Amino acid sequence: MKVVHSIHELRDQLRGQLRVAFVPTMGNLHAGHLALMKAARQHGDPVVASIFVNRLQFGPNEDFASYPRTLERDVQKLADNRDVYVVFAPNELELYPEPQKFRVEPPSDLGDILEGQYRPGFFEGVSTIVLKLFACVQPQVAIFGKKDYQQLMVVRNMCRQFQLPVEIIAHETVRAEDGLALSSRNVYLSDKDRLEAPKLYAELQRIQSRLHLGETAREQIEQETTQVLLERGWQPDYIAIRRQRDLCVPTLEEIISKEPLVVLAAAKLGSTRLIDNLEI
Ligand code: PAF
Repeated sequence: MKVVHSIHELRDQLRGQLRVAFVPTMGNLHAGHLALMKAARQHGDPVVASIFVNRLQFGPNEDFASYPRTLERDVQKLADNRDVYVVFAPNELELYPEPQKFRVEPPSDLGDILEGQYRPGFFEGVSTIVLKLFACVQPQVAIFGKKDYQQLMVVRNMCRQFQLPVEIIAHETVRAEDGLALSSRNVYLSDKDRLEAPKLYAELQRIQSRLHLGETAREQIEQETTQVLLERGWQPDYIAIRRQRDLCVPTLEEIISKEPLVVLAAAKLGSTRLIDNLEI
């Protein structure tokens, strides 16, 4: 496995390769990331992983400065797992040698809702860096986790609208045994909050059961779940039952006719903001 820090070295390593599979990350790798690397091997060869904490997708009051940067440990994990051929770990100057004035702005009906509403500029930052990384790596296929459901949709739509020759593969969310979705930010949870954290997924499962049992009162379900979480000490940003295809609010008829839905949640526990979702 090679670790490269410049676009020039990356291109040297990948010259002539016809089916590069790419997994972009911000590092602090956990079993969820490693599962994406393994899946990537089934879709292409060689596998390239990037590790880059992208300033552009953090809001002014977010955790860019304190985001866990663990490059040495990450590289060791990737080397041990033997799925990755090249790790691309550029520094900030390599990817942003000048202020990034050209940006990719997602359509507001997708980019300004849910996560976009609570993290203004987030999807612009994600789309811009993903496009830049695609330009650097030039992969044929890229793997994204479903945990960041809206991000996956934004990237898919960007590829479709710009006709980028990159196939986007979605990978199921990897969870701890108690159901908590693996995330680099879980390290921020106190011991007490770590015990409470799986409750978010448990509530999503409860919503799934209610819908499966034929309940159709979407807003009531969302509000009741919000209330449950509030009472347990969470600060929910949203609990939202949406259509899988475009994240729009489903009509009553669509809920009754079993339109594929997804329930998405974001909530703070202590100072840690967790997101999760469940397809229905
Ligand atoms: O999901 C992430 O880790 C990031 O948003 C990504 C896709 C690597 C872009 O910085």
